[in-house]
Amino acid sequence: MSNLITETVTSVKHYTDRLFSFTTTRDPTFRFRSGQFTMIGIQVDGKPLLRAYSIASAHYDEYLEFYSIKVENGPLTSRLKDIEVGHSVLVNRKATGTLVLDNLVDGRNLYFFSTGTGVAPFTSLIKDPEAYSRFDKVVLLHGCREVAELAYGEQLIAQLREDEFLGEMVRNQLVYYPTITREPFRNQGRLTDLVQSGKLYQDIGLPPIRKGEDCAMICGSPEMLKDTKQILLDLGMEEGNAGEPGDFVVEKAFAER
Ligand code: A2P
Repeated sequence: MSNLITETVTSVKHYTDRLFSFTTTRDPTFRFRSGQFTMIGIQVDGKPLLRAYSIASAHYDEYLEFYSIKVENGPLTSRLKDIEVGHSVLVNRKATGTLVLDNLVDGRNLYFFSTGTGVAPFTSLIKDPEAYSRFDKVVLLHGCREVAELAYGEQLIAQLREDEFLGEMVRNQLVYYPTITREPFRNQGRLTDLVQSGKLYQDIGLPPIRKGEDCAMICGSPEMLKDTKQILLDLGMEEGNAGEPGDFVVEKAFAER
């Protein structure tokens, strides 16, 4: 059996000249856990051209959703940005990744640190009731350069607050904290700086992250991962992985260069 499933695009949304999202059909045999990624792509000159993408939809949704950057001259994204409803997308049926709840120990509050398209695995995780049953608060931190880049996350959260099944959990337990670095906004600055200065905790009204109390997942650019991970290591927190749950887990946000 081929590992590649052919799905059909069912919707496409563009947010900025750099960002778009799309949904596809979902083969009912394709399984994944919230926070995982898989290889997706299109046929180019008769051959599959694939890149890693986090699955942004929930594990129980009947569709698949992906959130993507558009990289000028990027072999895949420069083509993928033009996809339309009815087009085909290839999806590898083997999903994988470290940003899964099983890789974390239990705790009080769960922090998701994301920048840019690194928010995608967390849009799946904030739709997973297990996140809310295991933690008191689920804190989604999303750092972007410009306000327009928050649209994808903001729209999803507004929708989840009204959701028939998740709405109550989301309203009571999800804390959403967007921050912007290159334009005026109500929250400004890099997430790393906001954590170190304590401004984040003042703004969200929660106690500072503590080893043995809180857990975290990180997804963003390599520099952001390095700096955020160092902050958590300095707090004495330990990195987890499959087979050995820890206080935090890390994954690079996938982007073409
Ligand atoms: P900044 O504007 O100060 O570079 P990018 O699009 O380059 O991936 O950046 C997305 C967001 O992540 C931007 O707000 C950027 O801030 C921020 N960022 C970049 N590097 C880091 C880092 N090392 N730690 C925390 N945030 C970062």
